[in-house]
Amino acid sequence: MRMESKQGSLVSLGGRAVTLVALVALVLVLRASARAESGGINPWTAPAESRELSNVSVDRAASVAQGKELFQTRCKLCHGPLGRGDGPTGKFLQPKPTDLTSSVVTSQTDGEIFWKISEGNPPMPAHKEILSEEQRWSLVDLIRSLSTGIAAAGEPSR
Ligand code: HEC
Repeated sequence: MRMESKQGSLVSLGGRAVTLVALVALVLVLRASARAESGGINPWTAPAESRELSNVSVDRAASVAQGKELFQTRCKLCHGPLGRGDGPTGKFLQPKPTDLTSSVVTSQTDGEIFWKISEGNPPMPAHKEILSEEQRWSLVDLIRSLSTGIAAAGEPSR
């Protein structure tokens, strides 16, 4: 009798575990399809032709300064004050905002980064309708400066 009830409880425990796994899987599938429906592409790769887009900014230091201001108002909430992907709103997003100082970003050309800022990929918003080309290039310059430490120090050092 005892054996039986033990086995019974083991079986129901197993059943619960299976239900939990199924629920987790369901949540993941729903999330992925929500992203697909909103137009998100994963993994996110800029098209080959964007590699060659040439950066229009002439005065890099001035451009970084402009990018820094734009970043405060438009990007910081998600990407965090230093672009590390740790902004307060970013916590609730799936996928998480990219760490803009990571090699994922620094290994891309200016053109690819510019294209991604322009086009967006939900939940990353598109910026081509709201920012001028020059403003978007200034953000590219700022992102480059984040990983070289220029902006983090407060003042462009060169
Ligand atoms: C609503 C939150 C949000 C805002 C605001 C936002 N981003 Fe993003 N960003 C994201 C998320 C989430 C991703 C990851 C998207 C992905 O991988 O599909 C991302 C990705 C990126 C990438 C691409 C990184 C890679 O994979 O190569 C760049 C560059 C970027 N953001 C720059 C910016 C800049 C610059 C701004 C401000 C003009 C900005 N983002 C504003 C959420 C945001």
